[in-house]
Amino acid sequence: MILQNVLEMVDPVHSNRVSLLAGQFARHLNLSSHEVEVIQAAAKYHDIGKISIPLSILQSVEPFTDIQRKIMQRHVQYGLSILSVYNSEEMEVAKTIIATHHERWDGKGYPNGLSGNNIPLAGRIVALCDVFDALSSERPYKPAWALGQVLDYIRSERGKAFDPELTDKFLELICEGVSEGIAL
Ligand SMILES: [Fe+2]
Repeated sequence: MILQNVLEMVDPVHSNRVSLLAGQFARHLNLSSHEVEVIQAAAKYHDIGKISIPLSILQSVEPFTDIQRKIMQRHVQYGLSILSVYNSEEMEVAKTIIATHHERWDGKGYPNGLSGNNIPLAGRIVALCDVFDALSSERPYKPAWALGQVLDYIRSERGKAFDPELTDKFLELICEGVSEGIAL
């Protein structure tokens, strides 16, 4: 399947980790097993539009210029256009996640500046999982952050970038995972 090939080309390790974490988080939120399954499968596609972003930007070790940031933000539109020909339930949720995983609870996100509960739940779930994984991992422009630093950051964005209630549930999930010795 062409989409699988594209996923393999766009940071599959990150996509798979975000997908698994989104599934665990959805389960922790007591969503139905069907919803858990769909969110987990759909979350894999959140950054698929990065296939259309120049490598010079994806692999940049310098902070982005304003123009580079604007180009990077286009991965949302590119992702939506890649999935536009698909319309299964999983793909519809994937489109919702692509469209809203960079929106912020305070309305300062992109592409549409949605705020609060106007951001679909799947997008709010993946926003937390995406940032958690990005900060926990090494990137061309930064080392991996220690878990405590990542959790402090997520806590500091409670009610800003992230849904406050979901932030509490997410921190609870991670802390339970740590105390049970689950590798995240
Ligand atoms: Fe993204």
